[in-house]
Amino acid sequence: MKDMYLFLLSTSYLLLKATGTKEVIFGHNNFTEYQVGNMNLILSVPHGGSMEPKDIPDREAACWDAKSSSCIFSHECPPGSTQNSKKCKVSTNQDRYTIELAQALAEEINEITDGFFPHIIINHLQRFKMDANREKDEASFGIPQAEQAWEEYMGFLTTAKSQMRGGLILDIHGQAHPERWIELGYTLSKTSLNSGIFSASCSSISHLASQLVNVSSETLVSGNRSLGKYIEDQNNSYVCVPSPSNPSPNNGSYYSGGYITKTFGSRNSGTIDAIQLELPQWVRAAEERPRFCKALARAVMKFWQTNYCSQYHHEFLPC
Ligand SMILES: *[C@@H]1O[C@H](CO)[C@@H](O)[C@H](O)[C@H]1NC(C)=O
Ligand SMILES: *[C@@H]1O[C@H](CO)[C@@H](O)[C@H](O)[C@H]1NC(C)=O
Ligand SMILES: *[C@@H]1O[C@H](CO)[C@@H](O)[C@H](O)[C@H]1NC(C)=O
Ligand SMILES: *[C@@H]1O[C@H](CO)[C@@H](O)[C@H](O)[C@H]1NC(C)=O
Ligand SMILES: *[C@@H]1O[C@H](CO)[C@@H](O)[C@H](O)[C@H]1NC(C)=O
Ligand SMILES: [Zn+2]
Repeated sequence: MKDMYLFLLSTSYLLLKATGTKEVIFGHNNFTEYQVGNMNLILSVPHGGSMEPKDIPDREAACWDAKSSSCIFSHECPPGSTQNSKKCKVSTNQDRYTIELAQALAEEINEITDGFFPHIIINHLQRFKMDANREKDEASFGIPQAEQAWEEYMGFLTTAKSQMRGGLILDIHGQAHPERWIELGYTLSKTSLNSGIFSASCSSISHLASQLVNVSSETLVSGNRSLGKYIEDQNNSYVCVPSPSNPSPNNGSYYSGGYITKTFGSRNSGTIDAIQLELPQWVRAAEERPRFCKALARAVMKFWQTNYCSQYHHEFLPC
């Protein structure tokens, strides 16, 4: 039964490959977009959007409720709570050029693999309208249109995942940290990376780790089989953390992974892994982006071939 399913799946992949058509599904008002791929890789772009519909109010600081010591994500603070920009600050910065970057990365992967295309899921709303990398209440402040877009985004991720037995999500972001390095998030905290005592089985690539029984957590996250290693191998100016050059962030700025990486990766369950890519401004900029995307595509496919193809014995596309 399983083999039959796989066979049918491969046949439809080949058809897609042969015709070169790509299905694109839009959410309500085109706030979200799902480009259906034909391989076991998903690119997620939650913060690159630039749509600013007037009828969705801007997300600003939420309401602090002293009684429950919690933030209430609403544009109108319920009695007993008040707007508090210190305790209940929300992030609203767009991650510039991440949509363009994901698109260029997908094209490069398509070229290298001769016809395979990752799934691409995009939130086109400005982050100050809806944040697709947060829990629903913080993401949409109870505004029905924003909630619908959030649900559609998560629905697209779920649909893409349901088409594969195993695979990888790359959640693509941008940051402006002074280190100008590429931060790879596995939901392992800065503290645990710094201590050197961590287990990949508690990370967002937990499933991969469970398959590669003889590969240490260090090797997979910061060593010879890590994504950071393969990116740095392309050109050592693409400094990554964690990686062989920087096994841990030490005192540097570092994002370890947000809602999507935690929820849709394999940390808690499932066979689909996730890695958050936090890219510095200079690799996203127009001058560097084409070169960087070529390098990143090669690095991702190396990571794939080394770690996933051995695991799935060539049922895993493309191996
Ligand atoms: C959504 O985008 C498609 C394709 O670009 C376009 O044809 C359609 O009119 C758009 N719909 C809305 C509601 O903007
Ligand atoms: C793991 O390593 C041990 C000891 O070298 C070896 O006996 C075993 O076959 C290896 N397992 C796999 C799955 O490679
Ligand atoms: C990684 O690979 C290099 C070069 O092949 C080798 O010298 C080094 O010992 C390896 N490191 C680990 C931790 O396996
Ligand atoms: C590495 O990348 C930098 C930035 O794009 C570039 O200036 C440099 O020439 C590259 N080095 C090599 C060896 O390709
Ligand atoms: C981190 O530590 C290094 C060396 O110990 C130092 O040069 C650097 O300024 C520090 N950075 C921050 C942000 O504290
Ligand atoms: Zn982001």
